[in-house]
Amino acid sequence: MSSQNVIEVSDVRRTYVTEVGVFKKEKKHVEALKGVSFSVKKGEIFGLLGPNGAGKTTMIKILSTMLIPNSGKVSILGLDPVKEHSLLRSQINFILGGERNLYWRLSAYDNLSYFADLYKIPQSVKKQRINELLELVGLKEVAHQKVETFSKGMKQRLQIARGLVNQPDILFLDEPSIGLDPVSARQLRDILRKLNNQGTTILLTTHYMYEADELCDRIAFVNKGQLVEIDTPTNLKKKVDDVSIIECSILGATPVQVDSIKNHASLHHAQVEQYDFTYKLRLQTNDPQRLVPYIYETLKAATITDLTILKPTLEDVYVKTIGEKVS
Ligand SMILES: Nc1ncnc2c1ncn2[C@@H]1O[C@H](COP(=O)(O)OP(=O)(O)OP(=O)(O)O)[C@@H](O)[C@H]1O
Ligand SMILES: [Mg+2]
Repeated sequence: MSSQNVIEVSDVRRTYVTEVGVFKKEKKHVEALKGVSFSVKKGEIFGLLGPNGAGKTTMIKILSTMLIPNSGKVSILGLDPVKEHSLLRSQINFILGGERNLYWRLSAYDNLSYFADLYKIPQSVKKQRINELLELVGLKEVAHQKVETFSKGMKQRLQIARGLVNQPDILFLDEPSIGLDPVSARQLRDILRKLNNQGTTILLTTHYMYEADELCDRIAFVNKGQLVEIDTPTNLKKKVDDVSIIECSILGATPVQVDSIKNHASLHHAQVEQYDFTYKLRLQTNDPQRLVPYIYETLKAATITDLTILKPTLEDVYVKTIGEKVS
């Protein structure tokens, strides 16, 4: 293991076996991970992105000692999460799935105190650490308020504090900003960045491209149990350097006209949304000079209420990568 790498994953596979049917039970096999390999360096913020069912949560559970892989090799901080899980658990922490794991009838302080005791944090440092964590996540003012009175954003920030009671070297987060409003999501990103600046390695999953682009040093795209791309956000975006995005809103177009635009030879990908009489198109093209006149020519009597040419974002890389590799 390279001294720089705190996470090393090599050819990991995991299949879930479930029973289906009421009377005649049959075993159903779902291959959630089909041989995934990657590594994460100390101090990185690493993002796992991919569609629903891609295997992200399965991977996080394996890395955080909650699930055993069927085969392959995993090393976290030089330890084996299967054989050395108790030693490893004192050095990592994880936040999976929303608001569970907190005691709603207890205050923020008492929740952290409870989890600090679980991690056997010495009483001599416990109070100061809890206060520092409440400060970090901006909950000091409401430290003695019951969690049931908290908003979703406050609960999620308390989850982060809970995940830090044992001062983990690596923090695993599964969709930390799901359901948060834009301001709460930004507060959360600020906390994660601050934490990372203090030396914590972070591995997170997210469906928010903007968040991944802003926060992550490197990103892995996962699809159908396989890793399809891994790089820095900047390098990933270079993969769509040759692509322009055309966004347009059209009033009164026919489905035939929209199909004709979607089938234009210069198109890499088309997203189409329809609201009553309006179509909203987001088109990835390698030739906007040809496509834009074609759109006007095809639509004839329909009205184009808006047409903008944009630079591609991480979302366009995602759509191109995952879109291309989905069978
Ligand atoms: N406990 C389980 N039993 C059976 N199948 C499971 C179980 N957990 C996950 N799976 C299946 O494994 C595959 C990967 O699931 P996983 O939850 O890891 O995906 P994910 O990338 O986290 O998706 P999402 O973005 O929806 O959270 C899916 O096909 C899912 O249905
Ligand atoms: Mg998941």
